[in-house]
Amino acid sequence: MRIWEPIEIKGMRVKNRIGLAPMVNMPGGEGGYISDLTIRWFEERARGGAGLIMTGAVVVTPPTDEMLQQRAAAGMTKWVGVTDDKYIPGWTRLADVIHSYGASLGVQTVALGPQSGQAASPPPYPDETHPKVSAQSLRGAEVPVHVVTKEGIEKHINDTVAVARRMKAAGVDCFELHLAHGGANLYASWVSPMYNRREDEHGGSWENRLRFPIETIRRIREVVGPDYPILVRVDADELLGEWGITLDDTVSIIIPALEEAGVDCFDVSQGSIMHSPQGITIPLYYPRGCFIHHAEAVKRVTKRPVIGVGNIFDLDMAEKFLQEEKADMIFMARQLTCDPETPMKYFEGRTEDIRKCIGCIGGCGRPCTINYDIQDEPIPLTPAKEIKRVLVLGGGVAGMEAARVAALRGHTVTLMEKDGQLGGMVATLALNPLLSEFGNLVTYLTHQMRRLGVDVRVCKESTSTDVAELAPDVIIAATGSTATLPEITRGKPGVMTYRDACREPKAVGQKVVVWGFFGAELAISLAEQGKDVVLTGKSGEGSLGSDVSGPRRFWLLRKLTDMSFAREGPETMRVTNPRVLSNCDVVDIATDGVKVCDRNGAEKLLPYDTLIVAQRFGERQKNDSFFGELQGKAAEIHTIGDCAQVRGIREAIWTANEVARTI
Ligand SMILES: Cc1cc2nc3c(=O)[nH]c(=O)nc-3n(C[C@H](O)[C@H](O)[C@H](O)COP(=O)(O)O)c2cc1C
Repeated sequence: MRIWEPIEIKGMRVKNRIGLAPMVNMPGGEGGYISDLTIRWFEERARGGAGLIMTGAVVVTPPTDEMLQQRAAAGMTKWVGVTDDKYIPGWTRLADVIHSYGASLGVQTVALGPQSGQAASPPPYPDETHPKVSAQSLRGAEVPVHVVTKEGIEKHINDTVAVARRMKAAGVDCFELHLAHGGANLYASWVSPMYNRREDEHGGSWENRLRFPIETIRRIREVVGPDYPILVRVDADELLGEWGITLDDTVSIIIPALEEAGVDCFDVSQGSIMHSPQGITIPLYYPRGCFIHHAEAVKRVTKRPVIGVGNIFDLDMAEKFLQEEKADMIFMARQLTCDPETPMKYFEGRTEDIRKCIGCIGGCGRPCTINYDIQDEPIPLTPAKEIKRVLVLGGGVAGMEAARVAALRGHTVTLMEKDGQLGGMVATLALNPLLSEFGNLVTYLTHQMRRLGVDVRVCKESTSTDVAELAPDVIIAATGSTATLPEITRGKPGVMTYRDACREPKAVGQKVVVWGFFGAELAISLAEQGKDVVLTGKSGEGSLGSDVSGPRRFWLLRKLTDMSFAREGPETMRVTNPRVLSNCDVVDIATDGVKVCDRNGAEKLLPYDTLIVAQRFGERQKNDSFFGELQGKAAEIHTIGDCAQVRGIREAIWTANEVARTI
């Protein structure tokens, strides 16, 4: 198989073709020193089989006293430092650990860009797609931006070169210059026509805009010598149309120029953090491997090795891309975060044991939504001191995770689920094509039930007789939550809960009103299936995108509205199906339609065949009515997941572990 073949990058022999992609949210140490946590983070991924471990972006500019004070005030005393020789021993220690697994270590460096207050030219940056975020940081705050002077350019080059020298001296195997992702990055935004509108020799033509990074690469080469690998992460396409770098620009101008400057390998990414983050933190709505054509296009114009990345969660796909010569190596970020052992398990033929990422971007390691162990101080998973009979009630992801952990610890576990299938609410959500990646978690946990010999009984609502017969020592209630329909929908035709709409798609009519922004993704899917959809919801808590992570929210707002990331309204909508009515609540359901009222009191009548009530977490009720009956039936009774408190997937997994690791 190609993934296991070693690859040579300018004398660096990488043992296989899978690498950890840079992720900035790696754990740091006090004052910038590599800490035990930093070592553990990268070591786990090297032990798990990745051939190349790339760090997340580390900043090349030494922090000023003012920055250090600001960081300290914000409680950010830990980071990964590279700006002083005092950090070298820590990096050597890290490199030695990575090498002990036969893997190679690279460091990615970044010079902070417009989003952090320094730029080639001042804002506002034009943005045809979304004017309101153009001169702002992602969180909507105005950032005072200063334009980098010629002395500033020289200083950045010197800082970057100094880091390269230090990393080589420390025993790090390669150096990656971050030249992607626009607004977060000075070098990337410098090259981009979107952000650089200087009129001196650093602006205007491609040659001018590339002068700064190319000079940096030349000077790095002088210092690290001819045999040290220099990688560059490029922005194959800034995903900004003609405003930004296009794939054409990349293959015809940027790659040849960088190759000529001495770059040894291209790591091909896309997007700009301020304006097109969907290329970087890719929402789960995008298909697997959606950006590999960028690497493929770059590979056609260079003889240097090319790395492909983006929504590649399984190694079959990685292997296919390598065989098709779309890339020479594959980077994975989120998959190696949520299961560091992915390569090893694949190699050993244990693919069903791989915990596949669900693409939610709910923290990505700090913490990970679906893997409790990916955090600084998890409760250790140790063999149980006393083997107990454990009864888990409910086969959603909380129940299955608790059963998995309890069984791993040696307990004898029975799981009862009243439904015919496992997975609960998460399995239901996964029926929506936009959220199908959620199914990865259900598949993984279901397999673990079989593998660990959990006695799973589906279509089985437990009775007190069952409980008495099993005589459990521990009962873990994971019976989830239910959506109860609001009073005004009682007895009205065509009303469905979100769950039923997912489970019985054939029952959903042509004209659909989705009530509640929790249903935004469902509304989009239904519209894509050809239904006529209106999505209506209130402002404030529960507003559009408020219950999903930042990158997903950004995508939803971009897809549906002209609302900025940070603000709400006015209700200018980008699409007509689904039509979005912000600040509008349902006030009545009449025979001829759903009556909604906006915040000014104006009413609208929306004809409908189906009204889908999409309630947020807080509006769902926990299924805990039978708990009274359980009292006295076991020495220990615990509740986890939604039936403890209605929340999201992470809390379901977390509460399951907190209980199952301590019984
Ligand atoms: C939380 C997070 C942090 C990231 N940090 C960086 C970074 O420091 N430098 C960088 O070039 N890309 C960064 N990326 C992008 C990843 O390297 C990668 O290109 C992207 O996640 C797509 O790969 P994946 O689908 O395998 O996760 C980050 C992505 C995520 C989700």
